[in-house]
Amino acid sequence: MKRTPSAILSAALAAVMALVLTACGGVGDAAQQSGENGTVGIAMPTKSSDRWVADGKNMVRLFKEAGYGTDLQYAEDVVEDQVSQIENMITRGVDALVIAAIDGEALTDVLQMAADNDIPVISYDRLINGSEHVDYYATFDNFQVGVLQASYIEESLDLKNEEGPFNIELFGGSPDDNNAYFFYDGAMSVLQPYIDEGKLEVRSGQTEMDQIATMRWSGAKAQSRMDNLLSSHYSNKQLDAVLSPYDGISIGVISSLKAVGYGSEDRPLPVITGQDAELASVKSIIAGEQTQTVFKDTRKLAEVAVNMTDAVLNGEKPKVNDTESYDNGKKVVPAHLLEPVSVDEDNYEEALIDSGYYEKSELS
Ligand code: GAL
Repeated sequence: MKRTPSAILSAALAAVMALVLTACGGVGDAAQQSGENGTVGIAMPTKSSDRWVADGKNMVRLFKEAGYGTDLQYAEDVVEDQVSQIENMITRGVDALVIAAIDGEALTDVLQMAADNDIPVISYDRLINGSEHVDYYATFDNFQVGVLQASYIEESLDLKNEEGPFNIELFGGSPDDNNAYFFYDGAMSVLQPYIDEGKLEVRSGQTEMDQIATMRWSGAKAQSRMDNLLSSHYSNKQLDAVLSPYDGISIGVISSLKAVGYGSEDRPLPVITGQDAELASVKSIIAGEQTQTVFKDTRKLAEVAVNMTDAVLNGEKPKVNDTESYDNGKKVVPAHLLEPVSVDEDNYEEALIDSGYYEKSELS
């Protein structure tokens, strides 16, 4: 193609603009720092949940200690923004990528681009599906998260001994997040037998993932689904338990329940589970509203991801403890699973304050 002088000038200008944009971080809020061992791109889903903010901060701190610079970006749950943030990181020449995907199926092309540039990829907390270019996976035992939530319901209602029937409704996580299915399967491994024998009754009849999923883990969506469930099935029935897979969903569910009079002496709130030990939910547990959460120490997860990245960049094999569970459709991704911990009003001080995860003053 023949180029006129003005075309050359505008191409040059575009290149300069691209450089300026890149230096400014482009989409999102880049916090780029350099380090003597290289730079790691960290793509996180959203700042709207405390946990991802903590994950990001912990990784930046630990990578810095290990001599790495970081480029940390949040995409506020917009899939296309996350893809372009990762593209920008690759263009800027990061040495490795740590990604907590918004949509686990949407990164195939951008991971191909990473592979073409020899950039290793660590899948963080959530598995990236449909790509062979996922090197390792740092996460918690996601099936066990669901088991802990459902076992808590089982014990609270004393399902082994009581006759029932008890009324329960089920909430699932985001259908584009691989974890949501692991949480659901873990929970149903405990609850299904009680549902089958009629000791637990799901009056809405909604028990399958495609009926109970909550897109993007939205508390507002969960709240409006709970509103519908309550008005259609519980106008003169008491709800005894709600399986919630995540604190943000639990908060939405509780608002809905309180709006129709639950939380009073003659109408106690049902048992309500959760996950992430987010500040608002721990406060809710202390106030006697949410009943339980699952604590996943983001400091430990960040440490695993940083060690994995450092090992890969040094040509070593990272420590993994699971090479079977996480098939992403293209390969079984070697994973390091951490143990989640069930937390309620009886052990929150030990689990969350004594461990230094929260200050006592933050919870009052
Ligand atoms: C999941 C994660 C949970 C929770 C949820 C919503 O992928 O494992 O801990 O944070 O996303 O953000």
